[in-house]
Amino acid sequence: MMEIDPPLKEAVTKTEPVPRFLTSKPDEVFKHSLGTVCAGNLLDIATGEGGFIRLLTSFLKEYRSITGIDNNGYALATACSAFDQDDIRFVQMDAQKLGFAQDSFDCVNVSASLHHLTDIPTVLAEMKRVLKPGGRLVVSEMHCNGVSEQQDLAVQLHHLKAEVDAALGIPHHKTFSRQELVDYFKALDLQNIRCFDYLDMESDPIDPGTLHEIDTFIEWILERALSAPESEALIRKGESLRRQIYRVGIQREPVVVIVGEKV
Ligand SMILES: C[S@@+](CC[C@H](N)C(=O)[O-])C[C@H]1O[C@@H](n2cnc3c(N)ncnc32)[C@H](O)[C@@H]1O
Repeated sequence: MMEIDPPLKEAVTKTEPVPRFLTSKPDEVFKHSLGTVCAGNLLDIATGEGGFIRLLTSFLKEYRSITGIDNNGYALATACSAFDQDDIRFVQMDAQKLGFAQDSFDCVNVSASLHHLTDIPTVLAEMKRVLKPGGRLVVSEMHCNGVSEQQDLAVQLHHLKAEVDAALGIPHHKTFSRQELVDYFKALDLQNIRCFDYLDMESDPIDPGTLHEIDTFIEWILERALSAPESEALIRKGESLRRQIYRVGIQREPVVVIVGEKV
């Protein structure tokens, strides 16, 4: 059943023209990392518009139900209208204070969201608290340790967006290093920890359609930057990045998926 409980708060964001190229998920790494997971009742933290739930339903070996939580009512309303299945529901909730009893879920996931959270250790501790012993905790996150100039430019573009958001008062950190993500995960004291890595070595870095989408995205970021303090420096940075991307192209940011089990 689809529900937002408690009822929607006011809309707090508007749709962003994020290029499909940047948001499309690297299927292979998720096939590998999720394909053996029997997820039972799964909780998806900071689910946003539910994009990752499509991937979970395609790649998990099995699941019984999926609960997506987010503190943004507008994103959840979009998620609700995108799914029409009795086994998927959405609840508006702060990830730092989950309204579930301990040991409630067989699997708890967070995807592409750690760098949007203000208190990551508290969220990870909450994720562990609501996970049953023996259950799986899954973190997938982009990071800043690419191996090519084109991947590095995708990281810099993401960082520009993060800087503009932060200047406008929207929590958005730069992406972490892979080691920082591993360290966050290790601090949870889980067992059987495994990492699955994705590096984009195949997409065409100068595909005209991609470059056009990126250009529109940069334009949108720079328009928003106009209302930020120190907008001139942000705009100079954006224009320089745009020139570099046109010169050498762009490939997706690296991603790591980390899986562990609660003792
Ligand atoms: C990049 S988006 C979500 C991406 C989504 N997980 C996916 O993979 O498609 C990050 C989300 O984190 C949510 N968020 C940030 N802080 C939060 C908090 N304290 N509690 C719940 N959600 C939060 C935002 O509202 C936003 O929807």
